[in-house]
Amino acid sequence: MNIFHTPHEMTAWSQAQRRSGKRIGFVPTMGYLHAGHLSLVAEAQRHADAIALSIFVNPTQFGPHEDFATYPRDEARDLALCREAGVAAVFLPAPAAMYAPDASVSVDESALQNGLCGARRPGHFRGVCTVVAKLFNIVLPDVAVFGQKDFQQAAVIRRMVRDLNFPVTIITAPTLREPDGLAMSSRNVHLNAKERQQALGLSRALASAADALRAGETSADTLRQQMRDVLEQHGLRVDYAEIADAETLSPVTTATPGNVALIAAHCGNTRLIDNRVL
Ligand code: PAF
Repeated sequence: MNIFHTPHEMTAWSQAQRRSGKRIGFVPTMGYLHAGHLSLVAEAQRHADAIALSIFVNPTQFGPHEDFATYPRDEARDLALCREAGVAAVFLPAPAAMYAPDASVSVDESALQNGLCGARRPGHFRGVCTVVAKLFNIVLPDVAVFGQKDFQQAAVIRRMVRDLNFPVTIITAPTLREPDGLAMSSRNVHLNAKERQQALGLSRALASAADALRAGETSADTLRQQMRDVLEQHGLRVDYAEIADAETLSPVTTATPGNVALIAAHCGNTRLIDNRVL
């Protein structure tokens, strides 16, 4: 497995792969890999010949009071998992290799990012779009795989790719869950035993909205309130509990199958997100 620390080395490898006729599949990550990430690698392997995975905790997508400093990191374990999964190249840049001190260009999506996490985390999606655009230019993938767990992120990236004509096919892969329903996330490592139980409120709240819609409840406000109630019963502090159109991410008034329920909630000091297409 190749490990590259500079954009130059990474791009040289990708260009050589492309010259030899290989399709490159790409999985961008912030590391602390879990089975969810490995399922993205497996999905990429279905669409490409050589897989590149990046590990970069991107400082520009964290707000000043967010968890950049405490975001979990374990490079040695990540590399072992990549090797086992058959990743061909890992891109592991230092922040200084990614951002010039006087960097002054960024990528801004201005519609899909306006609600949900974008509204609560100002600048977050500018950081995400900018780093993903840079990673696409460095890794030169044919296909890139993102998790549905970050539903808004996947939508914003698809829009960026469409609007800026990146020659990359975006694939969204399903969220992997623990047996009790908790969506896999690197941040789950921060949960203590009590919080780990409370965190089940997210998937349960989503299930309650899905069940209610199936039983005929179409008022989106009622479904939102029901999700909030479930979250609060689990001792979670609700950031948002939304029912939205799955394409535009705009809140809906009348819920219909195909809408998406999205939640962000604080569990102790950890902010968790989850979603479910109804
Ligand atoms: O989803 C993530 O882990 C990050 O937002 C991404 C796409 C790797 C960009 O830093």
